[in-house]
Parts: sequence; C-alpha cells; structure tokens
Amino acid sequence: MKVIKSAIIGAGVIGNQFANMFMLPEFELSIVCDIHKEKADHLAAKYGAKATTDIGQIIDDPSIELVYIAVPPRLHLEITKPVIKAQKHVIAEKPLTVTLEEAAELVKLSNKTNKICTINFPDRFSFMFQKYKAIIAEGHLGKIKDIQITMQYPDWPRAWQKTDWIDTQLDGGPTREVASHLMFQLIDLAPYVGEVVDIRSEVFYPDDLHAETKAQATIILSSGASCSYHVLVDKGVEKETRDFIVEGEQGKLQWRPKLSFQKKGGVVEPIEINPALKRPHLYFMGMEIASQILTGKQGSRKLVSFEEAEKVMRIINSILYNQNLLSV
Ligand SMILES: NC(=O)c1ccc[n+]([C@@H]2O[C@H](COP(=O)([O-])OP(=O)(O)OC[C@H]3O[C@@H](n4cnc5c(N)ncnc54)[C@H](O)[C@@H]3O)[C@@H](O)[C@H]2O)c1
Repeated sequence: MKVIKSAIIGAGVIGNQFANMFMLPEFELSIVCDIHKEKADHLAAKYGAKATTDIGQIIDDPSIELVYIAVPPRLHLEITKPVIKAQKHVIAEKPLTVTLEEAAELVKLSNKTNKICTINFPDRFSFMFQKYKAIIAEGHLGKIKDIQITMQYPDWPRAWQKTDWIDTQLDGGPTREVASHLMFQLIDLAPYVGEVVDIRSEVFYPDDLHAETKAQATIILSSGASCSYHVLVDKGVEKETRDFIVEGEQGKLQWRPKLSFQKKGGVVEPIEINPALKRPHLYFMGMEIASQILTGKQGSRKLVSFEEAEKVMRIINSILYNQNLLSV
C-alpha cells in the first residue's frame, strides 16, 4: 500500500495531541518541525520521525505530501502560505488566521491548488454532532425559534493549554479559541436554522493586552430565529461549561451535560449514541484525508474548506470587534 509521507509544523499542545492521526496505517510521520528544538525532538522521537527547527526541510522535500500546521494563530498565514505554494496537502489549525485580509489570502491560495486544504474543525466528523444535526434535520424540533451558545470558565487559560499566546487580545481568548468550534456548528446547521445575517455584541477586556473575560452577542439568522452567545471567565464560576441549545416550536435539543431532547411539555430524554461510533474524530478525519489523497475520491463527509473556516472567522471577528464583518 502507498503510504502518505507527512510532517507536522508546531509541536506544542495540540500538535502533540493531533499527531495520533498519523498512527493510521495510510500515513507515515516523517518530519516534525518546531522553532524550539527540544519540542521537535520530543514529538519526533515518539513517532520515529526526524526533528528540525527549519520549515525549509519540509517545504523543499518533495517526498512530503501532507503537512499538519499547529502554530499559534498569528503565524497561520506566514507558515501555511509557503506550504500550499510547495504543492503539499494541508491540514491547518483553526482559526484560519487572525485578520480577514489574511484569511482572504489563504482562501485564494487554497482555490488555486488541486491539493487538499482543510481546517481542523473536528465536529464535522463527530458522531455526537452528526446525531444532533440529524434530529434537527428530521424536523423533531419544528420551526427553530432560539439558539443559546454559552461557555463559562473559572480560569483562562485552561490548565491543559497554558500557552504564551492564548490569553492575548491579539490572537487568543475563549471566543476565538473555543467559540469558533461552536460557530462552525452554527454554520453547519444553516440549512435548518438559517444563515447568520447580523451580529451585535459587547466584549469586556481586563486591560489592553489580555483576552476577553466576558462577551455577549445576539446573532440574527436569516430564518428569523436568533442565537445568543455568552462567555464568562470568572473565578466564581464553579466549573467549566460549554452548551449549545436549539429550541423549536415543538421541542428543545441540548448538548450538555448530556445530549438530550425535550419534547414540548414532555420530560428531558437522553439520546444514546452507538458506542461503536464513539471513535476519536481524528480517526474519521484521517480516514477521509487518506482516501482523498490515495483515491482522489471524497467520502460521505466532506472536509472543512478554507471558505467555511473564513465564514467562522467572520462571525468571531464580528463578535470581537462589534462590527458586522459578515460580508465585507
Ligand atoms: N482544533 C482544535 O480542537 C484545537 C484545540 C486547541 C488548539 N488548537 C489550535 O492549534 C494551534 C496551536 O495551539 P497550541 O495550543 O498547540 O499552541 P502551542 O503554543 O502549544 O503550540 C504552538 C507550537 O508552535 C511552535 N512554533 C511557533 N512558531 C513556529 C515556527 N515559526 N515554526 C515552527 N514552530 C513554531 C511553538 O514553539 C509551539 O510549540 C492554534 O491555532 C490553536 O487555536 C486547535
């Protein structure tokens, strides 16, 4: 079997977690690059790969077909651009970039190449989200009236992701870092809940440099429904929560603490997911990427495109800058 030789740029928190995907038999992790030699060495050693601090070793190596990029958001354009230009398949981390101008540049490049350019929004491959979407698509909720997206954190950054950029206003904060996944879900549900057409928001920062500690927004959808977004970082919060509730005329669908459905006037019913389908999202995403590269054919769930990631950024940046940047 042909094996897809792959590389990782950015051996930080998520680069280490995502490297798992390369355990699929279709891939071989050949090179790990990080500006910090010890980080590259550490991850490369785990997978028997070569370590480097020089991205050129990946760009100039014609045998490397696929590159996963997991550097801080402020570097997404700078690092992704030469990789696409070198005719590699790319899996890039979210958010696509920091500014919409940078995003437009990457979307343009992704449209010019015949290689895969995808973003790691793993919910496209999550069976929980597939189930969630199917219940809405099958009409169990009736006409959608209201969506509530809420996140609460006792601390930011979270204990498992204490990086040097994640609490900066420039490219960190819970809205950009976490709500981008929830906004991806919102745009994925657009056929049933409507497209985002307007956003009004208020964002609270502790000072000029650090990320937001509170944000609230009203997101207006083309269906006439609306979505409220609320994030709070506060020591008084008991535990981290993240919720996504969709309410229709006939029922309410809730994500946490357990995926559940409540028919209007009825009791809350938990929704079971077939345990056989509870594999890591990365497994399914990896299978899809491998099959597209090896056979040129797309499977049942398409990869998330740079255009879709740009759409998510328009929502996030509209919230953060309290401006309607949805179609600028
Ligand atoms: N998809 C998801 O579920 C998910 C989850 C968490 C983080 N992320 C995203 O992953 C990205 C990385 O996040 P993280 O938490 O791993 O950050 P991190 O700071 O832990 O890792 C980034 C790594 O990039 C390295 N780096 C910086 N500049 C570089 C350069 N020029 N060349 C090579 N390496 C360089 C750093 O040394 C660091 O090791 C971010 O965009 C973040 O938003 C995605």
